[in-house]
Amino acid sequence: MTGETPSDPHPIGLKIRNGSKIYPGTQALKNVDFDLRMGAVNVLVGENGAGKSTLMKVIAGVEQLNGGTIELDGREITFSDKSDAAKHGVGIVFQELNLFPNLTVAENIFVGHEKTLGGIHIDKGAQVAAARALMKRLEQNIDPDVPLGNLRIGQQQIIEIAKALAENARILILDEPTSALSAAEVEVLFRVINDLKKQGVGIVYISHRLEELIRIGDYITVLRDGVITGSRSMKGVDIPWIVANMIGSASKEFPKTVAHEMGDEVFRVENICLPSPAGGYAVDHMSLSVKQGEIVGLYGLMGAGRSELLECIMAQHPNSTGRFFIEGKPVKEKSVAGRIRRGLALIPEDRKRDGLVQIMTIRENLTMSSLRDFTRGFHLSLKAEADKAKEFVKRMAIKIASLEHPVSSLSGGNQQKVVIGKALMTKPKILLMDEPSRGIDIGAKAEIFRRFASYRAKRPDLCGPGTLEFAVACPHMSGNREKTRDPFRQFLCPPAGAFFRSSPANAGCGTLADCLQP
Ligand SMILES: Nc1ncnc2c1ncn2[C@@H]1O[C@H](COP(=O)(O)OP(=O)(O)OP(=O)(O)O)[C@@H](O)[C@H]1O
Ligand SMILES: [Mg+2]
Repeated sequence: MTGETPSDPHPIGLKIRNGSKIYPGTQALKNVDFDLRMGAVNVLVGENGAGKSTLMKVIAGVEQLNGGTIELDGREITFSDKSDAAKHGVGIVFQELNLFPNLTVAENIFVGHEKTLGGIHIDKGAQVAAARALMKRLEQNIDPDVPLGNLRIGQQQIIEIAKALAENARILILDEPTSALSAAEVEVLFRVINDLKKQGVGIVYISHRLEELIRIGDYITVLRDGVITGSRSMKGVDIPWIVANMIGSASKEFPKTVAHEMGDEVFRVENICLPSPAGGYAVDHMSLSVKQGEIVGLYGLMGAGRSELLECIMAQHPNSTGRFFIEGKPVKEKSVAGRIRRGLALIPEDRKRDGLVQIMTIRENLTMSSLRDFTRGFHLSLKAEADKAKEFVKRMAIKIASLEHPVSSLSGGNQQKVVIGKALMTKPKILLMDEPSRGIDIGAKAEIFRRFASYRAKRPDLCGPGTLEFAVACPHMSGNREKTRDPFRQFLCPPAGAFFRSSPANAGCGTLADCLQP
């Protein structure tokens, strides 16, 4: 990276020198030197488990270094905790959302730094007004008085961003802020980031969407296994450079198209309706059918009802109506467990809420939906269970120190791989995937799509709102919507969302670099 000069438009606000961080069984940061420049977007990229969130937690006071120093405005400093860092002007949007579902949107935004009347009572009116102004700034139509738990994960992510903006931080860290956002919200966030930059705020931006990094970044730092492998101005940086520094080779192959025939209809959904609490329908008389070996993409804006449709299929909404058939036989089971037994599995959108039990071990999380497979009579074969968990850790390349560590000790992307492994372990006939590659790095994404492609040859898949993520696997689907129309026959178009049905020829082809070129 170029050094500081008197005319430097982006002076270094915070510096880490020789930073090391050790967790039980893992050295997450190894002698890291990191410069955070003010009035600029400093992007940070690296594979799952590379140490990005750890480095940011150190800057935000959530974790402390085991070795090395932090300098703020040229002076060495230690942050005792998050509020200490906040006092020094550091704000963070965490990768995993940290909100209170039973508090309102406004209360969540101001939790820990409440607006008060005379320093005693909470000034609810002022909080609601400020929250409303923040929603306007983020171009969101969200009522500050609704309980946060009523919002879907994308909207919750926006509330996290609003919460950080409300602190007026001088240094703002955004750890995968867009993983649950669709294109329209990303544009709004980028406008807000550009305004903050003009005000001199130093921003750190982490994402696995590499094209986003190139668009928004002024400086880039690449981490691999806790070591910085590249650090420079963003000028001239392209995706192959990032990938080479991230994974040590220029490109990873996506699976070549495996020609295969689609079989008979294996799954049919008729007339699914889910009433919306606000009136009308969240899922409005949807029907579709899936053939053996077919991937159906579900596409729509935030709030279009994509996730809700998949949740209805998994029996998660008792007030939904409609009929399901697997291999022509009606699905009468009303419980999630019953539907799993019939061969349905869901990779949910919100891994923290629906996908994992944070306090349980990696092994327990992987196997919890497949325990029947390891039961002999009344006994659970712990060895069979552990062997299966080990096999999936290897197959999915999950970066762990021990199967017996809590799943919460894994990096975000590795937690996502556990969620995918857990669904695949049930050997589903129909796999529902809701943003399956959320937070997953580029190499792992290629690996997972390769797995899905080979899996598809044997089993039918129904693919959920991961369409945007799927854009990475299918070059034809990247770019604008017009392009996506071309190879996909539109299947159904509800008011806010749309289905596209893939033809067998266009799933997963080309190289990674091809897929990501605009
Ligand atoms: N609380 C913890 N206890 C033990 N190990 C941890 C803990 N937090 C992180 N780690 C380990 O430290 C390493 C770096 O994790 P980190 O979360 O910083 O990765 P990351 O680069 O943010 O990855 P991702 O892209 O998946 O979010 C990983 O090996 C992870 O398992
Ligand atoms: Mg992370």
